[in-house]
Amino acid sequence: MTALAASAPTYSQILGVGGVRGELVIPNDDLVGPIDSSDEWIRQRTGMITRHRAKPETTLKDLCLGAADAAFDAAGVTGAQIDAVILSSVTHMAQTPALATTLAYELGATPAAAFDISAACAGYCYAVGLADSLVRSGQAEKVLVIGAERMSDFVDPTDRSISFLLGDGAGAAVIGASDTPKIGPTVWGSDGSQAGAIYQTHTWQTFKDGTDTSWPTLRQEGPTVFKWAAFEIPRVAARAIEAAGLSPQDIDVFIPHQANMRIIDQMIKHLGLRDDCVVARDIAETGNTSAASIPLATERLYREGQVHGGQIALQIGFGAGLAFAAQVAILPEQKTAN
Ligand SMILES: CC(C)(COP(=O)(O)OP(=O)(O)OC[C@H]1O[C@@H](n2cnc3c(N)ncnc32)[C@H](O)[C@@H]1OP(=O)(O)O)[C@@H](O)C(=O)NCCC(=O)NCCS
Repeated sequence: MTALAASAPTYSQILGVGGVRGELVIPNDDLVGPIDSSDEWIRQRTGMITRHRAKPETTLKDLCLGAADAAFDAAGVTGAQIDAVILSSVTHMAQTPALATTLAYELGATPAAAFDISAACAGYCYAVGLADSLVRSGQAEKVLVIGAERMSDFVDPTDRSISFLLGDGAGAAVIGASDTPKIGPTVWGSDGSQAGAIYQTHTWQTFKDGTDTSWPTLRQEGPTVFKWAAFEIPRVAARAIEAAGLSPQDIDVFIPHQANMRIIDQMIKHLGLRDDCVVARDIAETGNTSAASIPLATERLYREGQVHGGQIALQIGFGAGLAFAAQVAILPEQKTAN
């Protein structure tokens, strides 16, 4: 039988993680007026004290390039070594072309494969899963994964369902080949029957047919999403731990999507993690930056000296779709702490 040429399969690893946050730090008190809320309510219900938002002149591309540069420094690589760029974002303002091709060009990675994906708050873990597959199949040696959002472009200051939670930023990771497995199997999925739980007020079609030409913003059914995230998503996390051949007691670092401090606490309880497991709690200061939240939370853990290379981390993203993805990874020895 005739066989086709194929690259040798290998394992993959995260080589470095970096990120940048929007420059503006917005305290709860700046947002509570139009939504009849209070600093106390937001702190109690979400654990949030501030959120980072970008200056008007800072573009999504600027955030992506900053995060990519930080990840390159942490990984000790240059753009020229990157074979594929995957951007996860739901806030890129153009339908086409993908922002990833421009990023690849400006980072010196051309002719790297480059494409955008849309998986909202699960997007970073989706992209890490894709990068892991590309590297393990021999399709790419080094992949740049970016999760980036300017959520503030889709915020309605009078909406009390989700807008006050949202922040801007970008996080990135370089994924490369490894002699030993350092990224576990990605456990991912979706439940489109709940597509209405987190949604845009109206679609672009309304501009075309003239039925509503106001700017669309985001909304959510908060309690529905809360229950799903706090009680069903821990089962996804448990499956990712099992798929990596580990038990919850083996996890050194837990880096969940930063949606709500109470969701994070519920997850810890359901999973049965060790008392000394380091938990990312970047939500308090950065807010919910959707696809950027996990790499940004990781960046903070390194910068604050809370984690180091060789530790076993569980990361899990979940959100609009509804979509979810999780994987266990060995944290890299980074060249910089960002
Ligand atoms: C949004 C969220 C913080 C709301 O908290 P909650 O405890 O579920 O609040 P509820 O919607 O049940 O409302 C409870 C009360 O607070 C009030 N309330 C709701 N939003 C409020 C706000 N922003 N400020 C002040 N009060 C608010 C409600 O009117 C209700 O008042 P009542 O008891 O007098 O009727 C919470 O549901 C949440 O975090 N959900 C998941 C968020 C998430 O993860 N989203 C993104 C997914 S990636």
